[in-house]
Amino acid sequence: MASASALLAALCAQGCGEAPGPATPWRVVREDPTDVPMRGLSPEEQSGFDRGDVLFARQYLPSQGLGPLFVRSSCESCHASDSRGPGFVERAIAVADDGYTPATDQSLMPFGPVLRPYFVAPATRGLDAPPEGTPGLLRSLRLGPAVFGRGWIEAVDDAELLRVADEQQRAGRVHGRVPRLADGRIGRFGLKSRVATLEEFAADAYRGDMGLTSPLHPTEAPNAEGLTDDQLPGVDLDISAVRDVGAYLRALAMPRREGLDARGRELFERARCSDCHAPSLRTRADARPSPLASADAALYSDLLLHDMGASLADGSVEGAAGPRDWRTAPLMGLRFFRSYLHDGRARTLEEAIRMHRGDGSEANPSVDAFEALPPSERAALLEHVGRL
Ligand code: HEC
Ligand code: HEC
Repeated sequence: MASASALLAALCAQGCGEAPGPATPWRVVREDPTDVPMRGLSPEEQSGFDRGDVLFARQYLPSQGLGPLFVRSSCESCHASDSRGPGFVERAIAVADDGYTPATDQSLMPFGPVLRPYFVAPATRGLDAPPEGTPGLLRSLRLGPAVFGRGWIEAVDDAELLRVADEQQRAGRVHGRVPRLADGRIGRFGLKSRVATLEEFAADAYRGDMGLTSPLHPTEAPNAEGLTDDQLPGVDLDISAVRDVGAYLRALAMPRREGLDARGRELFERARCSDCHAPSLRTRADARPSPLASADAALYSDLLLHDMGASLADGSVEGAAGPRDWRTAPLMGLRFFRSYLHDGRARTLEEAIRMHRGDGSEANPSVDAFEALPPSERAALLEHVGRL
């Protein structure tokens, strides 16, 4: 919230992002460690952050443009404290016999795969899936992922991603693909990397999740009643709202880590986790805010698309990603999550690792390597990952 963030900003002037010493002011920061700005923002960047912070938390009303259909009425309901969930998006896709390849006939879901169960007048119904058990229909769920630290994801140099993809091809252990978009840019956001920048993602989320149109997406999402507007005539948001939320997301700090040691790092490599969960990636020299420039961003992701096999497949094809592909999940801030994987199906870290296994999954050898570790080393690896 805005007032808390102003207070935290004041405290952060003393050094957010570094290992805390014994001094006490840190306690306040530690209570809400996921919703703080990075250190070193200019006054202008700080005020953009503060304005975006308010918008991110706002519960929109129909009179402010919510609807006609929507999934939730605020960003925070799916990204509480800028972390994961509790809100989610449900999808339904008609699939072929293999259970995940999208069928050519999508007439079961004529308005696209995303369900939008809630609505406000003039709409009289939402967009629901055909009944459970409809043959040939794959239903899936995406928990709102964490949004902290995303400034670093945006700032990673294109050349760095190309270099990592090349290196993977040469080593031949995993085969990450650069999520190239139709316009030639590299996608970074969304679980299948279909969007290149934070502003574009914010505008996409405003419309897709909340029914709030903006200059970047001036028309409402397709719906069964053919509605093109809601209770607020015309485009609902002006461009400054999109920019402010973008500035807020970009300037959110990366959660601090403590207690990572050489043994944990070595096990993370030995189990081949680092093949995909690259411990750090280099950012561009001209990235802004300035703390993002020329940094080694400890994302624990290569930001590339990997074939994760049949059991994690959700049937959705987005940009360069096929129905079994996912962007390597960034493990930064993992210690704030209570469930894992795109739909939260794993309740423990160990389950999350074992669920990397599947027919055709690039991660199968890594799961084998994990399972081959003696129990004490497996425990040490889980402890390491739990601190990220
Ligand atoms: C109904 C739940 C929901 C709401 C409301 C919502 N999001 Fe999301 N958000 C998600 C889901 C699910 C994803 C993953 C989307 C995908 O893969 O396409 C996501 C992804 C994101 C990402 C990309 C994160 C990444 O790691 O790639 C950003 C940034 C984001 N949301 C910002 C916002 C903003 C800003 C708002 C409000 C305007 C918002 N979200 C509202 C559920 C939600
Ligand atoms: C072939 C690439 C690859 C390898 C190797 C790999 N992962 Fe992953 N990992 C992914 C992808 C892609 C996801 C996202 C899958 C999803 O959400 O369905 C993921 C998700 C995760 C998650 C869940 C994160 C979240 O946000 O919920 C954890 C934890 C994880 N990996 C840990 C590990 C560990 C530990 C290892 C080594 C034993 C490992 N991974 C090896 C690609 C890989």
